This record gives sequence, C-alpha cells and structure tokens, in this order.
Amino acid sequence: MTDLTGKTVVLTGAAGGLGGYISQQLVQAGAKVVGVDIARSPLDAWCEKILASGGQAVGYDWDLSKLETLARLVETIERDCGPIDVLINNAGLASYRAFEDCTLAHMQALIAVNLMAAMELTRLLLPGFRARHQGHIVNVASLAAKMAHPYDSVYAASKAGLLLWSDSLRQELIDSPIQISVVCPGYIAESGMFAKTELPAPKLSGISHPSLVASGVLAAIRQNRAQLIVNQNLVGETSAKVTLAISQLIPGFGDWVSHALGVPELNRQRAIARKQKSATLSGLP
Ligand SMILES: NC(=O)c1ccc[n+]([C@@H]2O[C@H](COP(=O)([O-])OP(=O)(O)OC[C@H]3O[C@@H](n4cnc5c(N)ncnc54)[C@H](OP(=O)(O)O)[C@@H]3O)[C@@H](O)[C@H]2O)c1
Repeated sequence: MTDLTGKTVVLTGAAGGLGGYISQQLVQAGAKVVGVDIARSPLDAWCEKILASGGQAVGYDWDLSKLETLARLVETIERDCGPIDVLINNAGLASYRAFEDCTLAHMQALIAVNLMAAMELTRLLLPGFRARHQGHIVNVASLAAKMAHPYDSVYAASKAGLLLWSDSLRQELIDSPIQISVVCPGYIAESGMFAKTELPAPKLSGISHPSLVASGVLAAIRQNRAQLIVNQNLVGETSAKVTLAISQLIPGFGDWVSHALGVPELNRQRAIARKQKSATLSGLP
C-alpha cells in the first residue's frame, strides 16, 4: 500500500511509547488513526494531541487480553469508522522476570496481548480485506523474537510466536492482495517499555529513537516489506544481522555475544527492579 492518504489504520497500543510515534507518522501520511489501548485517560490525551495537530483520530479503550470480545471491537470500529485498511498490532506487555517468578495469570495475559490478540484481530479482518481486495497487517515483534535472553522468556516466546506466525501467514496469503509485515526493533530509547525501566541499554547493542522504529513500520506498509529489523543505524542493524546469521550455524555464538554485551546482567537487574517495584506497590516489605 504505497499511499496511506485517507486510509483507516487500526493501531493497538496507540497511547504507549512507540504508539505515539507511529500515530504521528500515520497522521502525517494522511491516514485516519483508530487507536486501541487499555486505559481511557492516556487514550483521550493521545486523541486530543492528534486532533490538535489537525489529524483524524478515534480511540477505543479495550482490554485486548479479553480475546472473546475482539469480534465486538472490530464490529464497533467498522460501524463507527467504516472499513479498515491497515491493522498494526503494536500493543505489548513486558515481562522482565525470572521464569520461576511467573504466575499462570501473567503468562496467559502476556501471550494473549502479545500474540493471540494479533492473531484474533487479523482473523476477524481477513474476510473484509479479501472482499475489498486490499489490506495490510503489521506485527510489531522484537529482536527478542530472533535471539532470546534470560529473565524475559515468556516475552521472547510471545514475540518468536508472532514472528513465525506472521511469516507463515504471509506465505499463505502470497497470491492474495493482503500483505503481512513483521517489524523487529531492538532497544527503543526515550519512551516505551524499555525506557520505563530507566536502565541503560548495553553499550554496542544499539538503541533506536522511537521515530526511527515508527518510520520502519510505515516503510513496511509502503514497500510491502516481509520483515524489517530496526536497530539504530546501519552498523547496529548489520551487526545484529551478522550475529543472528552466525548463531544459526553456531548456537553458542549468540550466547557469547549476549554475555559480551552484558545483556543477561541487564535483564537480571530489570527483573530485580520489577520485583522490588511490585513488592512496594503491594505493600510487601
Ligand atoms: N520499547 C522497546 O524497547 C521495544 C523493543 C522491541 C519491541 N517493542 C515492542 O513494541 C511494541 C510497543 O511497545 P512500547 O515500548 O511502546 O511499550 P508501551 O509504552 O508499554 O506501549 C504498549 C501499549 O500497549 C498497551 N497495552 C498493554 N496491555 C494491553 C491490553 N491488554 N489491551 C490493550 N492495550 C494494552 C499498554 O498499556 P499500559 O501502558 O497501560 O500497560 C501501552 O499503552 C510492543 O509490542 C513491544 O513489545 C518494544
């Protein structure tokens, strides 16, 4: 879809860190943005910002983990806004914990939001896309989908699932007018789930400005890119790709690079920080 002018784009996680940047670029491209996010008040602020900039936006506060309600969400959007042209599955939950600290509820919520909601929204939109001979789906995965790190196992599983499901579906629909892309960002600076941890990214790992990742999402749509890694700059992206390629041949190589960059220790720190924060919030000593 080379031209987004006048297109209706559903963006999940619209009020989050990356969502704000993707929305801005969609508005600049002339699209009408339908934002879905869990909490009303950040969504209202998101909507006001877009309307103030002269863009078109509508927000729906919806809990995407309630998978059985998503058919009603799609019906509501189509009734209010007309047919949907593009779906960007961007909403996500972070994990940052030792696997032994995961509860069943945490694993279910994370897999529901990061993977199942994207699948279910896509499943619900495909008939309309087929009928109108167009439609593009972008799934925002992560570099964690390609190389896992400790203290983030459920997140890695959800993103690896998203990546391979996207790739399988893209091939299944190759002769149809429906296009599927997956975008894999590395660390994102300034806002979003990594920035919220307030821990620095390991030196040499690459960290992207969210506007660069948002540009990647729009490029994926305009150029119908099957898969896009976004990791700061050409050096960051190239070294990530080389590491991933060698890791396919020598699996221990990825672990070695990861240790050399300090990623396991960073993730351990994130897990400790998360645990301390949740203990404070629940009043535990
Ligand atoms: N930030 C990074 O470094 C990074 C790197 C690679 C990939 N990614 C991916 O990029 C995407 C955007 O992440 P981000 O960094 O912008 O994170 P973010 O700021 O936390 O944004 C995610 C948004 O999704 C919303 N959300 C969570 N659970 C939901 C639910 N059940 N129903 C509806 N909305 C829900 C969040 O709401 P609450 O804030 O209220 O929970 C938030 O507004 C995610 O898929 C993430 O995995 C991020």
